[in-house]
Amino acid sequence: MSRVLLFTGKGGVGKTTLSAATAASLAAHGRKALVVSTDPAHSLGDALDVRLSAEPSEVDGSGGLFACQIDPRGLVDEAWGELRGHLRTVLAGAGVDELDAEELTVLPGVEELLALAEVRRLASSGPWEVVVVDCGPTAETLRLLSLPEAFAGYLERLFPTHRRVVRGLLAGVAGTGTVEKWDATADALSRLAERLDALRTMLADPSGCSVRLVLTPERVVAAETRRTLTALALQGIHVDSVIANRLVPSPGAARGAAATWLRTRRQEQDAVLAELTGIGEIRTVDHRASEPVGVPALLEVAAQLYGDEDPLPSAAVPESLLEVSGSGRGLDARYSLRIALPLADDTELDLARVGDDLALTVDGRRRLVALPSLLRRCIVTGAEMDSGGVTVGFRPDPSLWR
Ligand SMILES: Nc1ncnc2c1ncn2[C@@H]1O[C@H](COP(=O)(O)OP(=O)(O)OP(=O)(O)O)[C@@H](O)[C@H]1O
Ligand SMILES: [Mg+2]
Repeated sequence: MSRVLLFTGKGGVGKTTLSAATAASLAAHGRKALVVSTDPAHSLGDALDVRLSAEPSEVDGSGGLFACQIDPRGLVDEAWGELRGHLRTVLAGAGVDELDAEELTVLPGVEELLALAEVRRLASSGPWEVVVVDCGPTAETLRLLSLPEAFAGYLERLFPTHRRVVRGLLAGVAGTGTVEKWDATADALSRLAERLDALRTMLADPSGCSVRLVLTPERVVAAETRRTLTALALQGIHVDSVIANRLVPSPGAARGAAATWLRTRRQEQDAVLAELTGIGEIRTVDHRASEPVGVPALLEVAAQLYGDEDPLPSAAVPESLLEVSGSGRGLDARYSLRIALPLADDTELDLARVGDDLALTVDGRRRLVALPSLLRRCIVTGAEMDSGGVTVGFRPDPSLWR
């Protein structure tokens, strides 16, 4: 399995440019790299100054850089179209109302999901050491990254419970042909669920997959960057660096109107970056006079971005989202569960105990956190939040404790 680097960020900040530059630099250092775009606009090809297709091809004069352009629409037609047709016929045959059947077969976000599943396929089948992915803008990508979970839940609702029920229904109302069709559809859906499961495993494994968040030093972008960091952490997805693109050059001691403009602009940009504290080191790339197009220009960008460092550092040690600590004995014991998450001052947080899980809702995004067994026998006593996460207090539940 190749390492996977996902580049994301707000629209237009430089995701395509920086993912292409990173892949070009990896290839130039003798590491087999593939850069993939899931964006239907042909911007990756534009940045590399080549024509791309859905199949990886080597970029001329790049010394081993491969690139391709995933076509999500085509994947949907190929993988989902037929399945959907089957499912609709079968459901209608089982007496499910035409409209309900339509609703059941329009699954949310199938396009994005299949694009990511295709990335996983490329990463697990190709000769590449690294697959660099030029993802869509943040909001969209986030939705996309949380999809496997949502989607798998959706499939679980249909299967396997419904499978038997529907099959029984079909045997009663339709011929054996329909039952066979249903079995084929059910099998295809289970395979899809398996693929999604593999995808989720890939996304949440920090040693195999990480995100590079791109921003430009502007206030609105910085605010969104914080929210994105929180949302990714909530999903257990590792962010290995934050990159500020398009810093205007500092004019030094030069004078005149142009120098004053640059100085003011740069001071503002520096101020925005200075406010982004507590998120680790931010790498920077200058705003260049001409657009970095083609491998040589991209390599210059990469040289500034990574300096002498390896663009692909050794895989992160998986750090746990959860940590339990405690003191005291028996019923007097007090425990606390620390959930590590970067949080902003205005983050809206909601916590609820749902059986053996904690339901954590951050700015409208929800995640279930399975409680360690010790804490399942406890009662929640309170919760506190700070910029680094949430601490939930527990004490033993006398009715469950022995
Ligand atoms: N450091 C830079 N200096 C000068 N121009 C840049 C720099 N980074 C990116 N650009 C230019 O800015 C434009 C937008 O960059 P790019 O396409 O990489 O952004 P993007 O985040 O992929 O955008 P989108 O959200 O539309 O996919 C491009 O024309 C690109 O050549
Ligand atoms: Mg782009």
